[in-house]
Amino acid sequence: MNLHRWAFLLVPCLWIVVSGCQKRQPADEHINVVMKKYTIDPPVIRVKAGERIELNVTTADVQHGLDIPALDIKQSIQPGRTTTIYFTAPQKGEYRMACGIICGPHHDDMVGKLVVE
Ligand code: CUA
Repeated sequence: MNLHRWAFLLVPCLWIVVSGCQKRQPADEHINVVMKKYTIDPPVIRVKAGERIELNVTTADVQHGLDIPALDIKQSIQPGRTTTIYFTAPQKGEYRMACGIICGPHHDDMVGKLVVE
């Protein structure tokens, strides 16, 4: 068996796989989101289908969570740091956002929506 011939093919393939995992495509939209008792600001996030979206999420007070159930996004948001959530906008529609961590008596009021146009 001629190993050299296989290595010739294998090395570039491995390189593509590895670099593909490490490199994240740049986002089309960077959106800052601030969570605090008891709002998600902005409450409506508008994006275009197929865009790569980066949400930079912070909390102005206690720990919250940002959930977008339809996109399988469930992320805790901790005080003192920015949490980046990265996704590709799905097909047109409205997707519910909500706080995912109990943060007080009006936790259930912390809702918003992602509008994909
Ligand atoms: Cu914020 Cu629950």
